[in-house]
Amino acid sequence: MYPLRRNRRLRTNDAIRHLVRETILTPSDFLVPLFVVEGKGIKEEIASMPDYYRLSLDNLEKEVKELWQMGLCAVLLFVKVPDNLKDNKGTEALNSNGLMQLAIKTVKNACPEMLVMTDVALDPYSSLGHDGIVQDGEVINDDTVEVLAEMSVSHAMAGADFVAPSDMMDGRILSIREALEDEGLVNTGIMSYSAKYASAFYGPFRDALDSAPVDMKNVPKDKKTYQMDSANRFEAITETQADIDEGADIVMIKPGLCYLDIVREIRNEVDVPIAVYQVSGEYAMLKAAAEKGWLDHDSVMMEQLISIKRAGANIIASYFAKDAVKLMG
Ligand code: PBG
Repeated sequence: MYPLRRNRRLRTNDAIRHLVRETILTPSDFLVPLFVVEGKGIKEEIASMPDYYRLSLDNLEKEVKELWQMGLCAVLLFVKVPDNLKDNKGTEALNSNGLMQLAIKTVKNACPEMLVMTDVALDPYSSLGHDGIVQDGEVINDDTVEVLAEMSVSHAMAGADFVAPSDMMDGRILSIREALEDEGLVNTGIMSYSAKYASAFYGPFRDALDSAPVDMKNVPKDKKTYQMDSANRFEAITETQADIDEGADIVMIKPGLCYLDIVREIRNEVDVPIAVYQVSGEYAMLKAAAEKGWLDHDSVMMEQLISIKRAGANIIASYFAKDAVKLMG
């Protein structure tokens, strides 16, 4: 006897496939990472991230207007800080006229309704390329957290809607929340990089910001004492739960594709919105393969983004955001 159930019926043509499709990407799923540099008229392509650019403030203004027109309503800002402004404590991060603070104001002036999230970590400001302060060969936790809390207040005062701590220090969400409350910044949200793994996929990003750990005696050569071990699953839940208990509004898992099991696991455990960061190395891999003609860029990109959403992401931070929205038509 033929099977009563023929699963292929629901795949017969586009119309039925659309009708039963479970996951649909929309422009409002995306958070667009943007790299900002000092200067004027600058739009520099990042060598290991083809078609992705560092922008000076004037070009940042143009870019966010274009994003808004496309229906992309949220940006995540990163800054490339000149070497002469870097030190071990990331002092420049607290400059109320610093590049990040100016970038926040530029976006808000150009596009007042654009949701602005800012990266909070010391690495772009650190002369040693670490997310925290280095002391006696170690990245020290509590002193770093104090700077992160001040940095968050500074971003919020400049107009950031959300701060996004990407440093993985312990206890930083609570300290940031308290610092914001103390200043009356009760509406500033926190998107915590909760399960951030020590990943080799961040290479191109560190090129973009020139922020890799420096090769020096008494400076940790990698970020493994604070970012998570890629072998661990339960720890991701502990980290995420702790951040929620400390006051995180949104939690993030990072990188994306290799960690979709973690995304699903956390989706099943927690009720807050989940963001997934499809990181620079993931972007670079596809661009390189497509350039060689080995993969079809657009189809692979959409398959990856859909997979991230299907795994449980409510928000996708991706360098492909514009490309994807263009394909959505
Ligand atoms: C640093 C930070 C990194 C990324 C976001 N924030 C790099 C790192 O931890 O070394 C990576 C993003 C990407 O690779 O796209 N706090």
